[in-house]
Amino acid sequence: MKILTYGTFDLFHIGHLNILRRAKALGGHLTVAISTDEFNLESKSKVCAQPYYERAEIVHAIKYVDEVIAETSWEQKVKDVIENDIDVFVIGEDWKGKFDFLKEYCEVVYLPRTEGVSTTERKKEIINKFK
Ligand code: CTP
Repeated sequence: MKILTYGTFDLFHIGHLNILRRAKALGGHLTVAISTDEFNLESKSKVCAQPYYERAEIVHAIKYVDEVIAETSWEQKVKDVIENDIDVFVIGEDWKGKFDFLKEYCEVVYLPRTEGVSTTERKKEIINKFK
């Protein structure tokens, strides 16, 4: 079984680790598509604390992750699923329903988020704690 998930994974935290562990547990091979700095800025107006190459290397080093690819557009998902022969697309419940169009190509699973942590919150906490 081949699994695919997407994300930014900036300031890698326990919620990120949990979703990668759960995604890997669904099958044998986990590919993680990581949003590039440009894609984050252009599509989500998000500035990353860590550049793409650092985020990609960190995620790649996680024992649950077999492969990392770049996410550079919203439109690439169908192509990624087909080209990588993906059986299951996985993402956190914050995206529930948003990727149901992929059901034509593979299974789509929305996993519960880890409560109480997000990169956005972490950034705010760091600013408050160390100002
Ligand atoms: N995720 C999760 N639990 C959290 C935070 C993230 O399961 N507490 C999941 C997301 O649902 C997504 C993946 O981790 O499938 C990557 O999420 P990402 O957007 O990179 O992390 P966030 O912490 O949500 O970042 P931000 O606050 O910038 O949205």
